[in-house]
Order: sequence, then C-alpha cells, then structure tokens
Amino acid sequence: MKHYELIAPCHFGLEAVLKKEIIDLGYDVTEVQDGRVSFAGDDEAIARANIGLRTAERILIKVGQFEATSFEDLFQGTKGLSWEDYIPSDGKFWVAKAASVKSKLFSPSDIQSVMKKAMVERLRQTYNLETFPEDGQSFPVRVFIHKDMVTVSLDTTGDSLHKRGYRKLTAKAPIAENLAAALIMLTPWHADRILVDPFCGSGTFAIEAALMAANIAPGLNRKFTAMNWPHIVSKKVWDDAFEEAREEVNKDVETDIQAYDLDPAMVNIARENARLAGVDHMIHFQTRDVKDLSHPKKYGFIITNPPYGERLEEKEALPALYKTLGERYKSLDSWSLYLITSYEGVEGDIGRKADKNRKIYNGMLKTYFYQFMGPKPPRRK
Ligand SMILES: C[S@@+](CC[C@H](N)C(=O)[O-])C[C@H]1O[C@@H](n2cnc3c(N)ncnc32)[C@H](O)[C@@H]1O
Repeated sequence: MKHYELIAPCHFGLEAVLKKEIIDLGYDVTEVQDGRVSFAGDDEAIARANIGLRTAERILIKVGQFEATSFEDLFQGTKGLSWEDYIPSDGKFWVAKAASVKSKLFSPSDIQSVMKKAMVERLRQTYNLETFPEDGQSFPVRVFIHKDMVTVSLDTTGDSLHKRGYRKLTAKAPIAENLAAALIMLTPWHADRILVDPFCGSGTFAIEAALMAANIAPGLNRKFTAMNWPHIVSKKVWDDAFEEAREEVNKDVETDIQAYDLDPAMVNIARENARLAGVDHMIHFQTRDVKDLSHPKKYGFIITNPPYGERLEEKEALPALYKTLGERYKSLDSWSLYLITSYEGVEGDIGRKADKNRKIYNGMLKTYFYQFMGPKPPRRK
C-alpha cells in the first residue's frame, strides 16, 4: 500500500477546524499552514477524506517540493518528479492552478507553461513517446509557490468539495457550504440543540447542520476526479468508502432546525435544496421577517449570515436590520447568537460586544464571525 502526503486547502482562519476533522477521521496531521492542512494517508484516505471532510476545499496528493528562483529551476525541479507513478501514457495533464506568494516566480501562465513542458519532457523519456494522445483520464496539477519553495500536487477532487451536489439554486450571496459547516463546528451546537437561521437564503446553514445531525457525509452524492484513477485508488476502495459513509447515516434523528427568510422565493429554493440533500424532513422552513423572530424554548442557537449590503440602498438599511436582530435576540431567553458578516457596525447595533470575534476570509472578502454566547443549559440528570 502506497503512502502519500495529502494536502487539504481550506478557508483562511479555519485551519484548526479542518485539523480536528482530519484527526477525527483517523489520520495524522503533519503540518498546518495558512489555508492548508497536510496529513499522511493511503489510497483509502484519499477516498474517505474526499467523501467525509466537511470543511476542506479539495484533497491534493503532494507529488514533490523544491526551491525555484528561476524558470530553469522550476523546469528542472518539475522534470525531477516521478510523474510516471501517477500519470499513464494516455493521461491528460495540465497545471490547472498556479499560485505564488512572496516569491520570485509569480506569473501563473508562465509557471503553468514551463511546468507542462517539463512534465512532457519527463514522460517522453519514461514512455518513449514523442507526442502524447492525452485522450485518457484527467490529471490536474496544482502548484503553490511560497517564499520560492514550490509545492507540486495532483488534485484528486475536481469540482471543489464545497459543491455537495444539493445546491442547484442559490441566493444572491450564498455562503460556501464548507465555510458554513466550519462555522457551525466552531459553535457548541449539537444535534439535540435548537438552531435557527433567520436569514436563511438558499438554506446553507440549516442544511449543513441537518447533514451533520444525520451523519450524512458531504460527498456521499457526488463524484471525484480520482474515481477515474484505478491505479491509484481502486474501484473497491471507493466502493468501500461510500458504503462505510452510507452505513453511518441516521435520518431518524430528532432535530429542531428552523430556516426563515423574508423572501418567499428564497424559502422555496432553500426547501428544494434541502430536499435534494435528503434532509427536508429535518428542517422547518418559513417565510418570516426577522422582526417576528421568536421561539418558546431556551438555550437555542442563531447561526446566520445576514445581508451585508452589497448594494448602496441595502447598506443604508443595515443599522436598522441589525438593531432588529439584536432586539429579537435579547428577547430569546438564554440563547447564543453567531453571525458572519463583512458589515462592521454589528456590535454597536446588536448593543453588546461579542464574546469572541474571528476574522475569516470568504474568498477575497474580509468577514468577521461574531460570537455572542448564551449560558450552557443545566446538565440533565
Ligand atoms: C446574505 S443572504 C443569506 C445567504 C445564505 N446564508 C445562503 O447561503 O444562501 C441574506 C438573506 O437575508 C434575507 N433578508 C433580508 N432582509 C430580511 C429580513 N428583514 N428578514 C428576514 N430575511 C431577510 C434576504 O432575502 C437574503 O436571502
């Protein structure tokens, strides 16, 4: 059995959540860097990580690492890697993504073309071929250069892992599914506690929470690039990993998850997405203005992503909207409020300083995850 160093990129600021998930899945974390967690694993780990990790962006196999301060270094370093261990003679290969930070080499298109030439050169010698048909399976390469250190990897995932396959329809500003899952994991919410998203949009928080409650693996209903690499991960390994995930599902778990939105069209979209995810029976959807938010029980959680004012007229309405949310929150006995937004007037409008606040990059957008914590419920006898 071959052992790999696997790299899982994630949202900046959420590395600790992903690290915990990887350890819980049974693997040893070897390195944590900004926006990526590395771990050791075999073919089974590639399948299980793709199917099971809720907060990763993708799963990469590290092919090698070397220093490069010139394109010649990049060419020689890339040519020195054992591409033939991964790419068959009919494989289609290209550098799908090149990123560079604080390095001499920074032009993505030049990095991509130099590396492709070096890979062709290497494989030409190994396979004794002048030209490659490239009509077989795909082998997308990803390269990350940090302070002139080049990390070369193969992408086993394909479409980013945040694409679970359930969100066919989205809101104006949907939150990525893996970001929503990570934020829920940062709270003490658990399936036996109440969760309300009063600005549910396409339903992402509610659906991700329901998937966690029912132990439905996020990748159970989608495909991955490495499913077409039988020489690396066999069909049996994939079948076993999917079977293991299916056996762990428990859709009968009781939940109190509520998803509201002012816009009835959004509520319909959220409901349809939940149906596609197989968790519509676990979520109560309703068209409701946040000003009417209430709940008879104690110790619930609001986890939400309110409007943050993409348009000017929306921006003007934000203070009043966040004040209303703050008032409704105050009226809920012993609740906790967690919200992610790029709007900076949150604490003033809610009327209290957050107990915790975490900076999170949602793509290029700097956002904060404000955490207003309520008391813990008394322990049950
Ligand atoms: C940033 S989006 C939420 C996106 C959501 N997290 C998702 O993943 O699709 C904010 C949502 O708040 C809703 N909204 C705006 N004003 C509202 C109000 N007064 N009460 C309830 N919902 C409101 C909008 O219709 C929109 O769907």
